[in-house]
Amino acid sequence: MYRDRIRLKSLWGKVVTPEEAALLIHDGMTIGMSGFTRAGDAKAVPLALAERAATERLKVTLMTGASLGNDVDRILTEAGVLARRLPFQADPVLRKAINRGEVMFVDQHLSETVELLRSRQMGPVNVAVIEACAITETGGIVPTTSIGNSATFAILAEKVIVELNLTQPLDLEGMHDVYIPTRRPFREPIPVVTAESRAGLPYIPIDPSKIAAIVVTRKQDSSATILPPDGETRDIAGHLIEFLDREVRQGRLGRSLNPLQAGIGTIANAVLHGMIDSPFHELTMYSEVLQDSTFELFDAGKLTFASGSSITLSAGKYAEVLPRIGSYKGRLLLRPQEISNHPEVIRRLGVIGINTALECDIYGNVNSTHVNGTQMMNGIGGSGDFARNAHLAIFVTKSLAKDGRISSVVPMVTHTDHNEHDVDVLVTETGLADLRGLAPRERAETIIRNCVHPGYRELALDYHRRALQRGGHTPHLLEEAFSWHQRYQQTGSMRPA
Ligand code: COA
Repeated sequence: MYRDRIRLKSLWGKVVTPEEAALLIHDGMTIGMSGFTRAGDAKAVPLALAERAATERLKVTLMTGASLGNDVDRILTEAGVLARRLPFQADPVLRKAINRGEVMFVDQHLSETVELLRSRQMGPVNVAVIEACAITETGGIVPTTSIGNSATFAILAEKVIVELNLTQPLDLEGMHDVYIPTRRPFREPIPVVTAESRAGLPYIPIDPSKIAAIVVTRKQDSSATILPPDGETRDIAGHLIEFLDREVRQGRLGRSLNPLQAGIGTIANAVLHGMIDSPFHELTMYSEVLQDSTFELFDAGKLTFASGSSITLSAGKYAEVLPRIGSYKGRLLLRPQEISNHPEVIRRLGVIGINTALECDIYGNVNSTHVNGTQMMNGIGGSGDFARNAHLAIFVTKSLAKDGRISSVVPMVTHTDHNEHDVDVLVTETGLADLRGLAPRERAETIIRNCVHPGYRELALDYHRRALQRGGHTPHLLEEAFSWHQRYQQTGSMRPA
C-alpha cells in the first residue's frame, strides 16, 4: 500500500515503527523537524520520544519551521523533552514553560535559522524528522503541506527519518520549489523575480543513504482556529482597502497591487478575506502561510498565484481544499521559508506585508511578541523578515484587548520587535495612520488621531502634550511611559479609576 510512495526500492527495508525510529535520537541531540504553522509536521516520532522520556533522561534542542500541530509541542513539553526550542511556537503549555524559564526559547526571524546552521553559527543538526508524501526514485523527499526549514534540515543532518504520511494527497507533488541558496560570500542572486518563479526542484535532494528510517503515518494536519471576520476586523480591512485604492488612484500601485503577504491569525486572515469585495483584481501572494483566505480569493477569481511555505487551513477549509488540491496546480508554490521570507526577494518584488501587532506605541514602534514586555506570546515569526524589506510594511491590530481593559496603542511599547523605521502604516478598527515620511512628532499626532480607541484618546493626547513640553526629537515622559501597563497590572485595567 505505502510501497508505491517509496519509489527507491532499496529504501523499502527502512520502514520501522515510530518507537524504533525514535531510538536514533539520544539525549542532548539537536533535532530538525518539519512543520510550519501546524502544517506538514512530523506526527509520530515526537510522540514516541515523549513516551521514552518517561523512563530515561531525554532532553533535546528542537528546531522546526514554525509552530507545530497535533499538540506535539504540548506533549513534548509535558514529557520534559524540550531543553531548547526555536525558531517559533504557538502552544499555550510550551508558552508557559518558556515564561517559567524551563525551556530556552530562541525567538528568531524565520528566514535566518538555516543560514545560521549552514554557516555553522548554530548546530549541527543530528537528526532530521521530515514528513513526506512520497520518496522519489533518487531518494528525494517530496514534502507535504509545508516546506519550512525541512530541506536544509535534511541536507545538513547526519541522519534523516522520513514520516511518510498516507493521508497527504499525492497531488501535492509538483507544488514545491526547493531552492537552496549557494554559500556566502559568493552567493548568486536568488532567481525568484516574480511570485510565480520556479527556481529549484520539486523535492528535497539528499543522499538516500542518509535516510536511516521511514515511518508510515496516517494522521492529518491539525486545523487552524480562524475566527470568522467580526465588525472590527471588517473595519480594519475596510480602512486598508480604502488606503490601497488611494495608492492605486495616485499611481503608486497598479490594480493588481504588489504581491501580498499576510501574517498568521484571525485579523490578518480577515483582512485578506476583505479583498474579495475590493476593486483589485489579478492579485498575487508572496507570503509564508497560505490560510483560508488564499483559497477564498482563488475561488472568487481574485487571485492568480500564491507562493508560500505552508498551507494552514481551518477544519472546514482543509476538508474542502485538500482533496482537490491538484486543481490549484500551476497557481500555487510552496518554498523553503528562507526563500518565502528572503529579504532580497521581498525587496525585489515590492511585497505588501500585512502583520499583526500585539501593541504599538504613539510613535509607531510595534511589539508582536511580549505581553507586558516580559511574557512571550508566540514569537516574531516572519513579521520582521517582511516588515524590514516590504514595499509597504503594514501592521494591524484591534485598538482594544481584554474587553477594553487594554489599549493596544500605548505611550511606549514594552518590547520592540519592529521599530518606527520599519513601520509604514498602522491600522486599527478606528482608522489608519499613514506614517510614511513623517517625523516622530507627526507620527504621534496621526496615530493618536486615527488609531487610538476613543476611550483612551484623551489619555494619549494628554501624555503626548505634556511630553512635547519636555522637548526632544521623540518626546516622552520616561517616568510615565509604562504607567498604563503598570496600572493594568495593579488594577486590571489601563484606564484610570
Ligand atoms: N496586551 C495583552 N494581550 C493582548 C494584547 C495586548 N496589547 N493584544 C492582544 N492580546 C491578546 C488577546 O487578548 C488574545 O488573548 P487570548 O488568546 O487570551 O484570547 C491574544 O493576545 C491574541 O490576540 P488576537 O487579537 O486574538 O490576535 P491574533 O490571533 O491575530 O494574534 C498575535 C496576534 C500578535 C499574537 C499574532 O499575530 C502573532 O503571534 N504575531 C507574531 C508573529 C507574526 O506576526 N507572524 C507573521 C508572519 S506568520
